[in-house]
Amino acid sequence: MAANPDRPRRLRRTPALRRLTAEVRLAPSALIQPIFVRDGIDHPHEVRSMPGVFQHSVDSAVQAAATAAAVGVGGVILFGIPSVKDEIGAEASDPDGITQRALRAVVREVGDKTVVMADINLDEYTTHGHSGVLGPGGDVDNDQSIIRFAEVAVAQADAGAHVVAPSGMMDGQIGVIRARLDAAGHQSVAVMAYAVKYASAFYGPFREAVRSSLVGNRRTYQQDPANIKESAREVLLDVAESADIIMVKPALPYLDIIAKVADMVHLPVAAYQTSGEYAMVEAAAAQGTLDRTETIRESLLAIRRAGATSILTYWATEAADAIAGWG
Ligand code: PBG
Repeated sequence: MAANPDRPRRLRRTPALRRLTAEVRLAPSALIQPIFVRDGIDHPHEVRSMPGVFQHSVDSAVQAAATAAAVGVGGVILFGIPSVKDEIGAEASDPDGITQRALRAVVREVGDKTVVMADINLDEYTTHGHSGVLGPGGDVDNDQSIIRFAEVAVAQADAGAHVVAPSGMMDGQIGVIRARLDAAGHQSVAVMAYAVKYASAFYGPFREAVRSSLVGNRRTYQQDPANIKESAREVLLDVAESADIIMVKPALPYLDIIAKVADMVHLPVAAYQTSGEYAMVEAAAAQGTLDRTETIRESLLAIRRAGATSILTYWATEAADAIAGWG
């Protein structure tokens, strides 16, 4: 009997045929580079658990942003690391706080060549390391925390952020931030909501990167990895509160969630390839267990295939520079 004439292998025969018929493509503009900026240092410090990732001084952060922009990276997102912490994370909303100083310097350098974003959270700035302010019982107080987030958002927008990204997972945070931004004249500053954020072990290396003081976990405000519908609920709330971009985090272990969210919303969907995802690949590659470049490429493609418009990844600048050669 003749073989079936329908042969999928025809389109896999050469690199050129595979390239022509690819359903998903990577582009530098789809990548967002996280940048850590630490107060009081004068040269970059490598993060032990994330080889190749640095805590930057303001000057070296500007360099990192300029390099990212030069290779066409879609955006950079800044995370500030203060020298002094307190109970309410006062420096997070101080016009002279580390994030705001870095924002002004980065925006001055890159202008509109790339999108300049900042993470809104208190965890890097608080002595207890939680994402919000604590109430009398020692729990994170939702409504007090979102007032602080709104103050941080306005400070970041005043410093020139094009996009602010609330990552604290407090209920109602997007609506309050939007209202306070608008009242301060920042109607054009967009909000990228960490709408879906799981309480994940994949954030481990990040906590070292930002010198987190957290003891315990964030399970009373970040999501349970067992849940799917809860993510739909979180997304619908953030859409109703006027989020401009919806983010899902982590990325690779949560491709089902990215796909579901991409189907649900008519907004751009970002996915955060977290510090743990980065560190796993780097560690395995350093041992010779994985091909580093192939694994990076495949993981980024998988996240795009699931439906993410853009990817926050510690490999953004490197990948953007290499993509053309990946075919
Ligand atoms: C909060 C924040 C975290 C990450 C991004 N924003 C840490 C957390 O919620 O514990 C994690 C990023 C990563 O792991 O790469 N500031």
